[in-house]
Amino acid sequence: MEIRKVGVVGCGLMGGGIAQVCAQSGFETVVREVSQDLLDKGMAGIESRLARDVAKGKLIQHAKDAALSLLTPTTALDAFADCQVVIEAIVENLDAKRELYTALDAICPAETIFTSNTSSLTIIEMAAVTNRPDRFAGLHFFNPVPIMKLVEVVRSITTSDATVEVLKEFAAALGKTVIETRDTTGFVVNRLLVPYLLDAVRVLESGSASREDIDAGMKLGCGHPMGPLELLDFVGLDTTYAIATIMFDEFKESRFAPPPLLRRMVLAGHYGRKTGKGFYEY
Ligand code: CAA
Ligand code: NAD
Repeated sequence: MEIRKVGVVGCGLMGGGIAQVCAQSGFETVVREVSQDLLDKGMAGIESRLARDVAKGKLIQHAKDAALSLLTPTTALDAFADCQVVIEAIVENLDAKRELYTALDAICPAETIFTSNTSSLTIIEMAAVTNRPDRFAGLHFFNPVPIMKLVEVVRSITTSDATVEVLKEFAAALGKTVIETRDTTGFVVNRLLVPYLLDAVRVLESGSASREDIDAGMKLGCGHPMGPLELLDFVGLDTTYAIATIMFDEFKESRFAPPPLLRRMVLAGHYGRKTGKGFYEY
């Protein structure tokens, strides 16, 4: 199957990065948000990242213009009717994702491959609402998408070999390195990363150390580019809370349970960088 046109649903932190990388890799890309305001905000983020790359001499002006000309922002779902691949990057909520896939299934031709960028949901519980469970897989990118080299290609119990092969080639065309995983909650990376991030909140909650010392400990002691609390602010506390809740529900292991402090911060609207306040202020 030749992929010419890609549909990206959601233009938040992840969808904006995914749409940018698809367009920069030469794919015609449609990106959808739920309102014009959110769409404008997401597109402004893409334009400013490309402009920053031009200013740094990493990208020539012509390449920036070419990428932007391949991007079609929209609030309409029927703009996905002629896409060969759809990448969903909306909120980490099963009901919202299932509702979206039900609508997309009626709009897109049978050949279109559906993928989810979910961090923690099970692929088959989304694939099951469509008539294409064999052409449905996880395609899990990492934040920030233009920089992080990894994509997890997730095979559910119904995903066909042909779908996996097309997605591996597609991810390579986006300049990413693929690891293939089964449809286990959290796949490979979040299965390991999420308990670590939650433990950092528990260390802070216990009063063992300050936020700065916890972060400095992991940066200077283990060579991580960001400390765990900085990384939580970067990923989004709302998203991490949803991920932890889903993972705890699946495994019933206390290491996946969202710590009380995380829940309280989400209830207060302190989602991290995206709201200007999390463990730190921005
Ligand atoms: N979008 C695009 N590019 C960005 C960016 C962003 N939000 N933030 C930084 N960058 C780019 C910068 O432009 C810079 O590019 P050049 O080197 O080409 O100039 C490069 O990243 C380095 O940036 P800085 O020098 O400003 O800062 P840094 O050295 O601290 O790096 C970082 C920033 C790359 C984000 C680094 O701190 C890092 O790797 N952090 C850890 C990120 C991580 O662990 N991500 C995984 C999150 S978990 C996940 O994604 C899965 C999930 O399901 C939740
Ligand atoms: P976000 O809150 O930044 O963005 C989600 C966007 O989806 C919002 O702008 C929202 O308006 C939009 N949206 C909601 N319903 C929609 C619909 N029906 N159609 C179009 N847009 C819709 O969240 P995010 O961090 O970008 O996360 C998106 C997905 O990516 C989640 O499944 C998350 O688990 C996953 N993910 C997140 C990270 C991360 O570091 N934040 C990393 C990898 C994967």
